[in-house]
Amino acid sequence: MLARLEKHLADLSIRGLELADPARLTEAARALMTTDREQPTVFDEERLAAIVDLYIRTGIQVHSPGYMGRQFSGVVPLSGVIDFVSSVVNQPSSFYEAGQLPNVAERIMADELNRFIGWDQDRFAMVTTSGGSLANLTALLAARNRAFPGYWSQGHSALAAQVRPAVAVGADVHYSVARAAGVMGIGEDRIVRLPLDGRRRIDADRARQALDAAAAQGLTVFCLVASAGTTPVGAFDPLDRLAVIARERGLWFHVDGAHGASLLVSDRLRHKLRGIAEADSLTWDAHKMMFVPAPCTLLFYRDRESGRGAFRQTASYVFDERQDIYTALDNGDKNFECTKRPMIMPLWALWAMYGKSLFAEKIEYLCRLTQEAHAILEGEPDFEVLHRPEANILCFRYRPEGVEVDDLHPFQVDLRNRVKSRGNFFISKVDVDGVAALRVVMMNHHITSGHFQMLLDEIRKAGQSQ
Ligand SMILES: Cc1ncc(COP(=O)(O)O)c(C=O)c1O
Repeated sequence: MLARLEKHLADLSIRGLELADPARLTEAARALMTTDREQPTVFDEERLAAIVDLYIRTGIQVHSPGYMGRQFSGVVPLSGVIDFVSSVVNQPSSFYEAGQLPNVAERIMADELNRFIGWDQDRFAMVTTSGGSLANLTALLAARNRAFPGYWSQGHSALAAQVRPAVAVGADVHYSVARAAGVMGIGEDRIVRLPLDGRRRIDADRARQALDAAAAQGLTVFCLVASAGTTPVGAFDPLDRLAVIARERGLWFHVDGAHGASLLVSDRLRHKLRGIAEADSLTWDAHKMMFVPAPCTLLFYRDRESGRGAFRQTASYVFDERQDIYTALDNGDKNFECTKRPMIMPLWALWAMYGKSLFAEKIEYLCRLTQEAHAILEGEPDFEVLHRPEANILCFRYRPEGVEVDDLHPFQVDLRNRVKSRGNFFISKVDVDGVAALRVVMMNHHITSGHFQMLLDEIRKAGQSQ
């Protein structure tokens, strides 16, 4: 197996996604299964090898320079080795007694990373969650329970008749925040979308007005969510200015840094999150820009007590009434999951082996590469550049002569699909101001600006055959 993975990692050819017909893939997978009539007596090495080969071949090629499409990373291989150990020793990490080292590693990583956030060591807290979406939901629950203390146990009936809880977000916020509002019964329609400025960040000057308008409509905004690295273009909301607004109005200030919080470990890039120390909570996906296997999300709270507020339950089989030095490390009451992967282990092991420099160097390289890609695009008249990249996400459109404005949207959508089906590069698409754009996310350090040039040629070829 290791030899196979080694070969896979050594293959730096430029390739995108080989999208298999699901029916054919099902057939191929079924053909690898032991039938009822067979009595496997010896270990079938070939069958296992074929399973692994099929798995590798049909996956997104995250280690190839052709992979520029999504936010999950070309992982540092060593982190996969630790993940493998986790899978074999199987130590779920919600409770200290089940996962001792994972729980200690969580505390250590919390302290290590909080050095860059800057919260009071004795007051802050961190829990790991299975993904950024769940972290956003958990933080919003903590915010709601602080604002409306009876809500957890009594639901809506705890609210006075005229109170309509609402959450304020930037117009480009990730859908998981709106989903959280739906899940919590607040209602997606009670999302107050704050206007963006020319760089697609929340416009702090107009945010106050929008919040006043929401209040005038009878909404009680209890939480302001800012993004540190928006999903569409990687924009960083002005945290320092938004923190002031949140504080003035007594709002919980949550920062969704699923994508961009990792920039905190870089001395050069940390300034993008200026004001982070004023936040109440922070979502930080390590499976994005910290290059470990998914999922690995860290949810930080400035104040430990608020963090405890997301869930309020008793369960005698797991939550001990009296804490001791062991149960003090339990997190089962603070995270949604009961059984939870020890997702911190790959991150902690990499940090233990290499320190922050591995992460800072990779992040800085990828952000610099995206700047170079932007500069290349500016010199290409048949491409339209949509923004100056702030991190490692870049959106643009291909606009050869003859494509009318009205056709621009379907043209980009088709183009992205053609690039995908040609199989050399994997890129994504996103609507920017209602019109589709091509989107690249630089997530592995094998990509160079030369590869980006090649992508542009590929896009031209795909566009011309349209
Ligand atoms: C800004 C932002 N928030 C939240 C999420 C959701 O994170 P996850 O995919 O880990 O659930 C994403 C995912 O891309 C994201 O970009």
